[in-house]
Amino acid sequence: MERTFAMVKPDGVRRGLSGVILDRFIRKGYRVVGLKQLVISRELAEQHYAEHRERPFFGELVEFITSGPVVAMALEGEGAIAGLRTMMGATNPKDATPGTIRADFATTIGENIIHGSANADDAARELGLFFSDAELLK
Ligand code: RTP
Ligand code: MG
Repeated sequence: MERTFAMVKPDGVRRGLSGVILDRFIRKGYRVVGLKQLVISRELAEQHYAEHRERPFFGELVEFITSGPVVAMALEGEGAIAGLRTMMGATNPKDATPGTIRADFATTIGENIIHGSANADDAARELGLFFSDAELLK
């Protein structure tokens, strides 16, 4: 059984889509073991996206992800890390396969509505950044 971290980005929350996105993960069969809406601090955003610190879009990425509330989720299930990435679709919604979240709900790479951990190390690191042990179901 795996745990992974997902987040509805500020564009999705502003558009009222947190529920329909969470619903897809629940219907898939993932168990919601942590859930909260919060505004990310600049410090947390920079830690979360540390791998992109040197990229030209880093400033915009941090501005965007701190621009309003996000909905942070901890999800549990067999193969949840890769499975959730598959459900999200390609980073650029223009390249995403129909039926994926980014294809169905987004149009532009800068506002692609959902984040999901890329691998097991990132999942553990990101769950630790966003949730304390006491906030997660056993
Ligand atoms: P995320 O981390 O947000 O789940 O997205 P991802 O793994 O699919 O993509 P990643 O390479 O980690 O990029 C993080 C976010 O940065 C923005 N981005 N912009 N302008 C660009 O070329 C560019 N490339 C990436 C995207 O919003 C992406 O989700
Ligand atoms: Mg990523």
